[in-house]
Amino acid sequence: MIKRFGLLALLVACDSSPGDTPDTLDASETAPDIADSTEPDIALPLRGEYIPADPQLPGDPARGYQTLSAGAYTGCGIPSELMPVADSLGMFGDDPPLPGRDEPLPYYLSRFPTGSGVEVVGPNCFTCHAAIIDGELVLGAPGIDLDFGGFASQIASFQSQIPLVADILEPESLAELERFANRLATVAPWVQTEVAGTNPADNLAGILFSHRDPNTLAWHEEPLIEPPDKLALPVDTPPLWRMGKKHAMFYSAAGRGDHSRIMMTTSTLCVDSLEEAKQIADTFDDVRAWISTLEPPPFPEATRGPIDRPLASTGEAVFLRECASCHGTYGDPSTRADDTYPNLWIRAEDVGTDSAMAIGASHAASRFVDWFNGSFYGETAWLDPKPGYVPPPLDGLWATAPFLHNGSVPTLRALLDSSSRPRYWQRLAGWNAADIGLNFREVSVGHAELTGPGRRSVYDTTLHGHGNAGHPYGDGLTDAERDAVLEYLKTL
Ligand code: HEC
Ligand code: HEC
Repeated sequence: MIKRFGLLALLVACDSSPGDTPDTLDASETAPDIADSTEPDIALPLRGEYIPADPQLPGDPARGYQTLSAGAYTGCGIPSELMPVADSLGMFGDDPPLPGRDEPLPYYLSRFPTGSGVEVVGPNCFTCHAAIIDGELVLGAPGIDLDFGGFASQIASFQSQIPLVADILEPESLAELERFANRLATVAPWVQTEVAGTNPADNLAGILFSHRDPNTLAWHEEPLIEPPDKLALPVDTPPLWRMGKKHAMFYSAAGRGDHSRIMMTTSTLCVDSLEEAKQIADTFDDVRAWISTLEPPPFPEATRGPIDRPLASTGEAVFLRECASCHGTYGDPSTRADDTYPNLWIRAEDVGTDSAMAIGASHAASRFVDWFNGSFYGETAWLDPKPGYVPPPLDGLWATAPFLHNGSVPTLRALLDSSSRPRYWQRLAGWNAADIGLNFREVSVGHAELTGPGRRSVYDTTLHGHGNAGHPYGDGLTDAERDAVLEYLKTL
């Protein structure tokens, strides 16, 4: 996203006119309902709780995808008359378009009208929630190539270039450009992360809430409630295809009630009136419906090697014994109809993973929870963060590295053997087929001893919120059992 905003900043050197193209889309098929669990009939191994289901309104998945690809849900962007030059300068590189969208825009940008009627191009949900894996665009996969490190300086340079185009834009378009730049500049100090690839979305929500009146949604230049800490805790973007099974959104099970209303909080960026927010809300039941039909991509045996089926079936037995009580059971992947998922959250001290996000995270402070619950967004949904973490559904796990809520563990093998987890590690290009996850190199020093641009590429698990301990449930496995479970996990 950050590199992309840097590219957008260069756009202000152009004076071309917009080319508008209507969107078309094939209807996406509807997935079968997952067998919905009620109270689990297993004995809970540790202190945790069942998360009951909240009713969700039905929606049309195909329309939801259309909204995601061309909806006005962020409310701001760059006036689209400034865009064609970006394409002509090759700024979007090889980034593919969104399937079904007849637009010369990369998948992470959308064209839509703002509240003032100016057509703009701005980032969409796929900025964070899509990835290119083995050359294929996978919608819903976590976008882990984002580096928020240079955000503030790139926004500053974006702002400084606005005067260069002031003369060639209509006054309404110039006002939209300034609004977008000013909004990004206001939030920029709160989206700083320490490691490339970790996502500051939770902190972003906190700073956006703090600038808005919860009743009218009017934006105030000065915060109305105390903002969160500036440095964001690291969050590993989750895949969207888990939502077909999950009763609560987010690692801490905070997102309850009508999920569509929570999914639309992206609109706290620039949607500045209740009227606009209501219009967006009307389209988000469809978005929720599309997300709940998303299927994980199957393990690509053609490029990454065939799955050893007999070994995987040995692994399934180990999984059922050691893992299923928290993570559920998985039937035929082509229908998923006989999957079960217990919908639990487990106390942070019991799972033992880094507790900073679950306990005392500034972005989850009660003033933000109260803001949300008392706002338009809280009419049909509510936030109720738990002091723990949800054991997620493990479908499509191979495509979701790194692991844990903070992305501190680069491979599944390391996740299942806590003694082997690297303390300081640097991501390398490519894919780690043997251990399932990221290719990485263990390095001998952490951030305290590193200076220069390479520092952000090192995941330092000794930093606050970045710890890689806990989740010891694979430690007792023999090497053969671990190999078998890893093989089984590829089949989910
Ligand atoms: C700036 C990056 C970013 C953008 C843009 C973004 N998200 Fe997310 N999203 C995240 C992160 C990070 C999380 C995990 C937060 C947590 O659990 O604390 C998340 C969580 C979610 C979840 C819950 C997943 C789960 O397993 O609990 C859903 C659903 C979701 N986002 C949908 C959307 C939709 C729909 C949009 C656009 C309207 C969107 N997101 C825009 C980063 C982003
Ligand atoms: C007592 C409940 C419990 C048991 C048993 C358990 N897990 Fe987990 N698991 C969790 C929780 C809670 C998390 C989330 C922790 C976090 O993100 O900090 C998790 C996270 C994970 C993740 C990371 C998912 C991701 O995308 O980041 C994987 C993979 C995983 N577990 C696999 C397993 C396997 C395999 C087993 C059996 C060997 C197992 N778990 C046993 C509770 C459990």
